[in-house]
Amino acid sequence: MSEQRDRLAEMAVGYVRDGMVVGLGTGRAASRGIRALAARVQREGLKLTCVSSSVASAQLGSSLGLKVVDFASVDRVDFVFDGADEVTIDRAMLKGGGGAMTRERLLAQATEPGTSQRPNRVYMVDASKVVDRLCTRMPLPVEFVPFAAGLVRRELQKIGLTPILRLAGDDSGRPMVTDNGLHIYDCRPDWSVIEPAAKAKRLLPEMAMLFPLERMPGVVDHGLFLFEADVVLVEPAAGQDGDIEVMGADVDDAR
Ligand code: A5P
Repeated sequence: MSEQRDRLAEMAVGYVRDGMVVGLGTGRAASRGIRALAARVQREGLKLTCVSSSVASAQLGSSLGLKVVDFASVDRVDFVFDGADEVTIDRAMLKGGGGAMTRERLLAQATEPGTSQRPNRVYMVDASKVVDRLCTRMPLPVEFVPFAAGLVRRELQKIGLTPILRLAGDDSGRPMVTDNGLHIYDCRPDWSVIEPAAKAKRLLPEMAMLFPLERMPGVVDHGLFLFEADVVLVEPAAGQDGDIEVMGADVDDAR
């Protein structure tokens, strides 16, 4: 692990204070944060309670000595850190590459919004994930109740999304099953359908996708995280040197 990658994780968990309930994200960046957090706990003797957005992160945290409890047993989170698959300069994010977005959003929603000076919801990416428009590098993941697969597919197509069922990736041809026992459609947006519809409603295209997804029958959650980040920490892309950039509202205002 390079010094740069350590710096990112340490910066993210540097906001954690003694006594906090800390939400653990999922994925490679979040795992780095979990390791950095465990190192801080060992070094400083912090008393923390952690909740996890996935079975995998809970196992990693516990194996490193963090106290990880069921999310169901807490009613708030003080601080959450996580990764993202794409981010725009407005801190709109695409998540769910690892299929954990439903629990990731629940942790973020349980956390009081902070500011860029005192952030409570911190996301980590490298510069290769900064995009002009979401869904550039990856389709939009939508987690749904398998019972409603056909209905959800039709509703997604109606709003200009082309769904592909995410497979387990083990040569069985079976769908991937999330920690919630649900399935995921990875959806390619057809901007030639979405943009005119958004324009007619005077909405940004991302909002024109968000609104129907929020009330679509059978859909439990999706990977559009447009308002969740207090700050996004951006490290240089692999093999590049440079500082970690802090993307946040007050940081932008101060420029
Ligand atoms: C998990 O479902 C995702 O939302 C991850 O947070 C996201 O995919 C980023 O993962 P990496 O840090 O592994 O790229």
